[in-house]
Amino acid sequence: MLKIYSFKTVTSTNEKAKEFFKKGVSRFAILAETQTKGRGRFNRHWLSDLGGLYMTLAFKEGNLDAVRYLTLIASISTAESIKKISGLTAEVKWPNDVLLNNKKICGVLTETFSKEKRALVGIGINVNQKKFPKGIARKSTSLKIETHKSYSIRELSKIIIKNFELHYNYYKNKNYKKILAVWKRYSHTIGKKVKVITLSGVYTGEAFDIDSNCNLMLRLNNGRIKRINEGDISVV
Ligand code: BTN
Repeated sequence: MLKIYSFKTVTSTNEKAKEFFKKGVSRFAILAETQTKGRGRFNRHWLSDLGGLYMTLAFKEGNLDAVRYLTLIASISTAESIKKISGLTAEVKWPNDVLLNNKKICGVLTETFSKEKRALVGIGINVNQKKFPKGIARKSTSLKIETHKSYSIRELSKIIIKNFELHYNYYKNKNYKKILAVWKRYSHTIGKKVKVITLSGVYTGEAFDIDSNCNLMLRLNNGRIKRINEGDISVV
């Protein structure tokens, strides 16, 4: 089991993890009660008040080629852990979200450092928050909102780490098919008609699969197949 270093407040658990690996620590988890500069993909702000789970898992990775799998692993480990503690079935949304009742409950931010051969997997989960600010309230939820119960964040983080390490073994053994199969089982995305906003354009089509590079495969309206590497998707 990864050793967990816990903090009351940090700027971002990913930043704290960077400080740690620069000191030479290699496999560990950072957990914080709040973050002052929590961030998401594309440097978006990640609300990090008391009540959420803010954790970063850090690994030494000689080869970063398949590192996108770590994001999938974090999402499926979160969905499995939510199932274990609440009985609810969460879904994974490509590329880095977990949804509960169609609302976002978790986001994953994976960062890599090729020179230092490190990968950081930041996981933010809405656990005990009772409500969210106007701008995100419609699209966000928490375990508390869905079940009217409170959960131990430390306990949840341990379950996630345990599940993560299980899938991480598949990753280390290059058993990527196994990871993709589990991801597809929890998928909210596959089989849906989606709109994807990418840096190179907007695409609409049926999300019909995920390929071995973790790209989302879209069947466009004109029948062509488009592999999406990065972007924001919404179901249309
Ligand atoms: C996203 O949805 O864009 C990803 C959000 C990731 C948030 C987590 S919270 C723990 C870790 N520290 C951060 O600053 N971000 C990630």
